[in-house]
Amino acid sequence: MRAEAQAGAAAAPLLAARGVSVHYEGAISALEHIDFDVPQGALVALLGANGAGKTTLMKAIAGMLPFERGEVTAGEIDFDGFSCVRAHPAKITRRGVALVQDGRQCFRSMTVEENLRAAALLKPARAREMTDLVYDYFPMLREMHARAAGFLSGGQAQMLVIAMALMGQPKLLLLDEPSLGLSPVMVQAVFDAVERVHRDLGASVVIAEQTVPRLLTIATDAYVLSRGTVAIHAAPSQITEDELQRVYLS
Ligand SMILES: Nc1ncnc2c1ncn2[C@@H]1O[C@H](COP(=O)(O)OP(=O)(O)OP(=O)(O)O)[C@@H](O)[C@H]1O
Ligand SMILES: [Mg+2]
Repeated sequence: MRAEAQAGAAAAPLLAARGVSVHYEGAISALEHIDFDVPQGALVALLGANGAGKTTLMKAIAGMLPFERGEVTAGEIDFDGFSCVRAHPAKITRRGVALVQDGRQCFRSMTVEENLRAAALLKPARAREMTDLVYDYFPMLREMHARAAGFLSGGQAQMLVIAMALMGQPKLLLLDEPSLGLSPVMVQAVFDAVERVHRDLGASVVIAEQTVPRLLTIATDAYVLSRGTVAIHAAPSQITEDELQRVYLS
């Protein structure tokens, strides 16, 4: 009887946001009662036009809102049994959430390898092993290991910041608009690497983008935000260009 009940019960999602609202500066509403799940091992596409709320949702999960005078004003965000609302971002990181913000932040005067070492502070014992692993995923970084990060191209810098996030062996990787400003070939290369990381390491991944058709071919689940609400939650194969256009223009 108990076995039947267990078999019938759906596995709890790794991340569950329920009824989440966010305001900036105590007034500007950025998210309104959002429900957002990341199942274990999922690759979730988070789509939406400018200002839809993608970055805000990622910052709410990672605990970064207070740095921008933002606050979760309603709802709950549970990550693997831990409440992220009002938790310090360092604590959320230690629990296994890694946010790669847009802007490709790294230490520009330090080399690629020094940046990777700095990012391994969370798990220093496995730094060498993890460096070899991320070089396997991003061979270009191995070639450029001695180059100052400030001299990398946009695509190379994007790969570096994703690799830096992986050094902490996150359970949940949040990527905010990784394709911004990249050529189609570079977008393909970045997404290929992320797909491999997702498949091989079993990490759950959320990728925020405005419109990237390639993302819908690798995602296992998709959300489309519009003006701070969830306009569509569906299987990626069910989301059409026309539907996206309609939401984006509404
Ligand atoms: N620091 C902030 N202070 C005040 N309002 C903000 C702040 N950051 C975002 N907002 C507002 O919150 C809403 C959601 O913005 P957000 O940056 O989350 O959208 P987005 O979907 O990431 O957009 P984009 O595709 O342009 O990156 C917008 O109306 C925006 O103006
Ligand atoms: Mg954004």
